[in-house]
Amino acid sequence: MVAPAGGGSPSRWPSEEELNIVRKNVAEISGGDAREVRVVACPYRICPLGAHIDHQGGIVTAMTINYGVLLGFVPSDDAEVVLQSGQFKGVTRFRVDDLQKPIENRGNITWESYARGAVYALQNSGYDLRKGIIGYISGVNGFDSSGLSSSAAVGIAYLLALENVNDLVLSPVDNIQLDKSIENKYLGLENGILDPSAILLSQYGYLTFMDCKTASPSYVYFSEPSKSQQPQGRLPFKILLAFSGLQHNLPKSRGYNMRVFECKEAARALLCASGCEDAPILRKVDPGVYEAQKCILDENLARRAEHYFSEMKRVVKGRDAWARGDLQEFGQLISASGGSSIVNYECGSKEMIQLYEILLKAPGVLGARFSGAGFRGCCLAIVESGRAEEAAAYVGAEYERAQPELVSKIPADRRVLVCEPGDSARVILHA
Ligand code: GLA
Repeated sequence: MVAPAGGGSPSRWPSEEELNIVRKNVAEISGGDAREVRVVACPYRICPLGAHIDHQGGIVTAMTINYGVLLGFVPSDDAEVVLQSGQFKGVTRFRVDDLQKPIENRGNITWESYARGAVYALQNSGYDLRKGIIGYISGVNGFDSSGLSSSAAVGIAYLLALENVNDLVLSPVDNIQLDKSIENKYLGLENGILDPSAILLSQYGYLTFMDCKTASPSYVYFSEPSKSQQPQGRLPFKILLAFSGLQHNLPKSRGYNMRVFECKEAARALLCASGCEDAPILRKVDPGVYEAQKCILDENLARRAEHYFSEMKRVVKGRDAWARGDLQEFGQLISASGGSSIVNYECGSKEMIQLYEILLKAPGVLGARFSGAGFRGCCLAIVESGRAEEAAAYVGAEYERAQPELVSKIPADRRVLVCEPGDSARVILHA
């Protein structure tokens, strides 16, 4: 796999203004020069196709957006980590040579857990950490990032900063495994590698493909038939994010791990029926065996398995549609994925389903589904570039009519966002 050259997004995230705020805050905490502050820019992600199949070794698609987390940092003089947050109160202090242990009670997860989790992951993989960081981390103010992989973005930001000050040079694939270790081992969430793969690999203009069984990525370039009608190099669509007003902290939730368990139970039953005793994940089940044996599954497990096998087919079809520049078909597959998440995977909630249905009716929307785990958080849509604002206004007004109370709690300019696809996470060295 040859990674495409990075930095192609026309969205210019983060702006100089955003970077300077972070630099100034770090300089105030460290007493140093703002120009010396380094910044990790870690974008949020969307997954157009491949919902809830990463933890079963499936194939997922991903891209980043032009919003995310910024972590400004300087190396500390010794092993101490000192952190402040733009969204949460307090100062966190600990040492990178303190031995970190996994969190036992997920109710105890706080914003500082991700920094400790990054140290845990590096320690656990045998990396020698001598230097800490003095840092300031910030998401976008007033922005509810649930559904956009904010926890992976924060975890990766700390990994990249700690690696930077300790002169560790790791590949994106190494960092995907380290982030997996933060989420699975330190925080106890049984998720797959969709989020870190998206954040560490995505490049504007490409759909990132990750085979979660082999952890091998590939890229598909968007080939668009009427290129001459587009401003140079720009993709002909935008991403709409519509926020439900129901916040979500995935690592603290039980629903996600319950579904993973059900998928594994379905895999166990199907593998057993074909005389195989492999560790149960659905990727190990041959699709032919699934078709022949699915009648043995009880109703819930049958739905989870149907979601997995139908989503794998949508991913393959979606890759071809994207490569042809066929956004109509790509969008229809995204909406079908959304439907399967509701009917077969049974995530979402009344409000999220309302939002999904409103998006499907919005002008210029080509496809919509829940973003991320989908129990709460936001829905995403792919929308024709020229109709994005019109679609955003329609969705904002309709959802407000459906859920006035919930919507009143979301800042007016953060209810429906029009975004651009972005690039991968990176360290910006100097002002
Ligand atoms: C969350 C998890 C991912 C993935 C998605 C659903 O974002 O962190 O690993 O399972 O849900 O596709």
